Amino acid sequence: MIRRRAVLGAGVVYGVASGVALTGCTAGEADTPTPSQQFDPNDWASVRAQFALDPKLAHFASFLFASHPAPVRQAIDRHRAGLDADPAGYLEKDIEYEERVRTAAAEYLGAQPGDVALTDSTTMGTGLVCGGLKLKPGQDVLTTEHDFFGTYDALQKLTARTGARVRRVRLYDAPATATAGDAVTRLKAAIGPQTRLVVVTWVHSSTGVRLPVPEIAAMLRTVNAGRAPADQALLFVDGVHGFGAVDTKVADLGCDFFTTGTHKWLHGPRGTGVLWSKSWDAIAPVIPSFSMPDAPGRLATPGGYHSAEHRWALAEAFEFHAAIGRSRIGARITEQATQLKDGLAGIASVTLATPKAAELSAGLVMCSIDGVAPHQAAGTLRRDHGIVASVTPYNDPLLRFGPGIVTTPEEVERVVKAVASIN
Ligand SMILES: Cc1ncc(COP(=O)(O)O)c(C=O)c1O
Repeated sequence: MIRRRAVLGAGVVYGVASGVALTGCTAGEADTPTPSQQFDPNDWASVRAQFALDPKLAHFASFLFASHPAPVRQAIDRHRAGLDADPAGYLEKDIEYEERVRTAAAEYLGAQPGDVALTDSTTMGTGLVCGGLKLKPGQDVLTTEHDFFGTYDALQKLTARTGARVRRVRLYDAPATATAGDAVTRLKAAIGPQTRLVVVTWVHSSTGVRLPVPEIAAMLRTVNAGRAPADQALLFVDGVHGFGAVDTKVADLGCDFFTTGTHKWLHGPRGTGVLWSKSWDAIAPVIPSFSMPDAPGRLATPGGYHSAEHRWALAEAFEFHAAIGRSRIGARITEQATQLKDGLAGIASVTLATPKAAELSAGLVMCSIDGVAPHQAAGTLRRDHGIVASVTPYNDPLLRFGPGIVTTPEEVERVVKAVASIN
């Protein structure tokens, strides 16, 4: 931090301050990205070819922890080589590389770069919000019965720190028949006069339900209309299963805080994420920052040296996504998820848990098979059919698929046939 402040204060040009010439050494090569060979972003086969995923398998669980596409792998390799050759010299460019990532993230979010904190994961962002939230005596927090266990843990820690009460509300009884109106009504009814933070997950990793976040934000605006700023209920969204999958600019969701890993649907470097807010005043920074201290997102970026080659290669993940086109990716995911839901719904032994409506779901598709435990089904799919699925890590586990840019409609058909054969 001192180093950065000193550099800024002296107005020194990056890469020159220490007298290290970056060009001409291994680090200098890192400044010239090598374009991925023969990548045609308009051709889905070419997109798939950018991944080193095992071609013998159909990858319906790559959203769990991303496989890196070629441009991301190359960027990581470049930065790693530079750091290995001359860590001190290469670090002279860390602000520039970090800002490149922040700018790319801001562009994708529809936000200002200074409002973007760089994190290691969704969970780290949740910890920063819940760990830093300023609460007045008596204020409480509302979450739902459909959130991630990391969120519940972060909220327990918030209670231990502040004594604040945390309540959970159920937004639907059966996910397949969830409706946007009912979810908003139930959430509104649970908000108390002292509720300061409302914590929801955009796309539930337990059921595949996508919450109507813009409608929730609009409802909160009416709730907040008569409240002083420090008493307003702020909306915090865990967006990890919508980010990179749903064609929506995060800033248009209307939430106050948004956390996401960028190592799932975006296929960004493993161990990266972003936290965005438009109302940073409500939280205090938790971890000392090494970033420039001139904007709240930078101040909220946890400091300490990171796995820098991964963090800096996040810019290439956003570029890869943009080259293909966020709307084309969103449409491709919706198309396959709809095909999968229709196919699964036509199998007598299968109960589809995820809503069929595209606006109430995203890429995650969950189901159960009569008389077959989800883990057993996932094992059979992998062993006998070369299909990688996952199982939801919640009570009442379900079989879970995530079609995306590394799967095809033909593979979706293969999944439907394989599931139909399991009994
Ligand atoms: C809803 C939800 N939030 C957060 C996470 C954790 O993500 P991260 O590894 O980015 O913290 C998961 C699953 O891994 C999840 O399903």
